[in-house]
Amino acid sequence: MLSVGLLGATGYTGKKLIQICQQHPYISDYTLYAYSSADQMLWDIFPELSNVVENKQVKSIANLSTEHNVYFITLPHGEALKYIPALIANDKKVIDLGGDYRLDFEELYRQWYHFEHTSPYLLKSKTYGLADYIDAAIYENSRLIANPGCFPTAVLLGLLPLVENFPNFILSASSIAYSGTSGAGKSARADLMISEMDGNVKAYNVNEHRHEPEILQMLYKHKFNSPYSFTTHLLPVAVGIYATTTVHLKNEIDAAAVKSVYEKSYKDKPFIRLRDVPPELKWVVNTNFCDINVAVSGNTIIITSAIDNLIKGAAGQAFQNMNKLFGWEETIGFNNQLLMVNY
Ligand SMILES: NC(=O)c1ccc[n+]([C@@H]2O[C@H](COP(=O)([O-])OP(=O)(O)OC[C@H]3O[C@@H](n4cnc5c(N)ncnc54)[C@H](OP(=O)(O)O)[C@@H]3O)[C@@H](O)[C@H]2O)c1
Repeated sequence: MLSVGLLGATGYTGKKLIQICQQHPYISDYTLYAYSSADQMLWDIFPELSNVVENKQVKSIANLSTEHNVYFITLPHGEALKYIPALIANDKKVIDLGGDYRLDFEELYRQWYHFEHTSPYLLKSKTYGLADYIDAAIYENSRLIANPGCFPTAVLLGLLPLVENFPNFILSASSIAYSGTSGAGKSARADLMISEMDGNVKAYNVNEHRHEPEILQMLYKHKFNSPYSFTTHLLPVAVGIYATTTVHLKNEIDAAAVKSVYEKSYKDKPFIRLRDVPPELKWVVNTNFCDINVAVSGNTIIITSAIDNLIKGAAGQAFQNMNKLFGWEETIGFNNQLLMVNY
């Protein structure tokens, strides 16, 4: 049985981590750590969780205990650097849901996150935990898991089987992706007010989204060697990521061969649902599924994928990673493979 520490428990992704902790059969206890909400009671912070999960007092992250076995870190960029090196030095298992350890090089981190990395030696030894795609063997000696970003999860799960199996066919690829506003966390921002977002759609962070180098890093490791572009948009919904990736080919590929590659890649992957038609956001919201459709037509392939950014794009995938770290079934702690929440 595991004792778990949740750092950043009072945020949007923290709330989902709490819900999974509560139902995970191998977690004996979990402690909530946060910053400005330290000392408050959980049910006061999330009244919707009253009588659903245990009420607990939030502890100050300044008094972090080293007694837990596993730590989930869900803090703003840069903050994880203060805690993770000591935890790893103490032989703890750490799953970081933020971006501080996802990129492999400190120069890239400086360029995209605008911080100096204070523990670059961990960038190489971490495991990039794209849980539905990477082999169980990779987890055997892992202690630090960098949980992928929400956009990279949706884009990579859709694109990697094609890239890995048909690298020489690809001329170029581009992903247009959409996110609900919870992707930005719970801090108040004028541009995310309902009066700004209702009935609205807009592109943001064009050519400078931090998830672009993360996607490219993983694509390059899987034989990709072509031009790629990535554009993100905000949707007037609270939750969900939708990604449409267009791949232009040098030569036509047999549609049946493509279908068979995806079926093989995701055979026995309980959280991936291959669809015959483009998925819809509402099929995946409140679940840990990634729904994917691949449509081949002549020299073009359109891949659509949809996830819940707070679950598959964060807390749900983090628990898959924890299960894999301990050699357990990926679905343990999930309710019938669906992570249904209470509202
Ligand atoms: N939202 C998503 O869809 C999503 C998806 C994948 C990954 N992520 C990543 O997960 C992390 C958390 O995202 P979120 O959306 O859950 O954020 P959030 O809702 O803004 O919550 C942030 C959490 O961090 C704590 N915190 C804030 N400033 C802190 C500081 N200086 N020191 C220590 N703790 C601090 C907050 O505690 P107090 O409330 O007590 O101040 C809160 O518990 C980010 O790195 C984000 O990129 C988010």
